[in-house]
Amino acid sequence: MLYGFLGCGNMGGAIAARLSESTKDIAVSDRSGKARATAKKLGVTYTDTVSVARDCDRIFLAVKPQMAAEVLAPLKPMLALRKPLLISMCAGLELSKVRELAGCALPIIRIMPNTPTALGQGVIPYCRNSLVTDRMLAAWLVDMQPCGLLDALEERLMDTASALSGSGPAYFYMMVDALADGAAMCGMPKAKALTYAAQTMEGAARMVLETKQHPAALKDAVCSPGGSTLAGVAALESAGFRSAVMDCVTAAYKKNKDLGK
Ligand SMILES: NC(=O)c1ccc[n+]([C@@H]2O[C@H](COP(=O)([O-])OP(=O)(O)OC[C@H]3O[C@@H](n4cnc5c(N)ncnc54)[C@H](OP(=O)(O)O)[C@@H]3O)[C@@H](O)[C@H]2O)c1
Repeated sequence: MLYGFLGCGNMGGAIAARLSESTKDIAVSDRSGKARATAKKLGVTYTDTVSVARDCDRIFLAVKPQMAAEVLAPLKPMLALRKPLLISMCAGLELSKVRELAGCALPIIRIMPNTPTALGQGVIPYCRNSLVTDRMLAAWLVDMQPCGLLDALEERLMDTASALSGSGPAYFYMMVDALADGAAMCGMPKAKALTYAAQTMEGAARMVLETKQHPAALKDAVCSPGGSTLAGVAALESAGFRSAVMDCVTAAYKKNKDLGK
């Protein structure tokens, strides 16, 4: 088998779904059997973790960081024998820690994906250890293209990326819901308000990416002097919006650091 998944929940399932559009040479595994339904839906194989370690050439470690040691421990002899490419998405776990948990020197790529990967709109920073050759990396990158933006990142910034883009969708969902609640308070049906809020967020994000203008300049372009948008901006400022958002990222960053200990 080409790809294997140790764990296939929200994040592993999203990547498996994208990969399965170009290959069915994929085996997924979990603990409870829930991933059996995912495998059926994607047209790939459901198996156990030992079979993944025995049969797959590129193996995603897609369990919660706290479970990584328990999942890898029984697989150590097989990993030592086969030395497959291990791709860890565990928040906070450094390459050296994953290598320690795997019990042998093997090629490891560390990634920090996010859930929009399910739609091919993910942000996926990655770094690798010295056993991942350029050729190995290039082949893996080709397969990963349908997942979204793949970006090489120094390992020292992976926990920051996790706090920003890995966790980011949760922050944006909160913002969309809060915006829509505000509109609902002003009389708009919630469903319509959610659509407007999400579409506005997507459009504003595209403006940042495509115009390359600073977000502050783009914001100023929406704000007429003495106008209603500035009244809204002033309300956000007096509620400490910017510092709350900055605190949110640094809190997630600190938690990632703790997970890696
Ligand atoms: N969710 C995100 O947005 C996101 C973003 C970036 C990175 N990540 C990383 O992705 C990883 C997975 O997160 P997730 O959100 O996908 O978690 P999740 O939805 O809870 O999925 C975890 C998977 O691991 C399986 N698992 C747990 N213990 C196992 C065991 N002993 N043997 C085999 N499988 C086991 C679970 O199977 P059962 O259902 O059978 O327990 C489940 O399939 C984490 O390390 C996280 O840091 C997640």
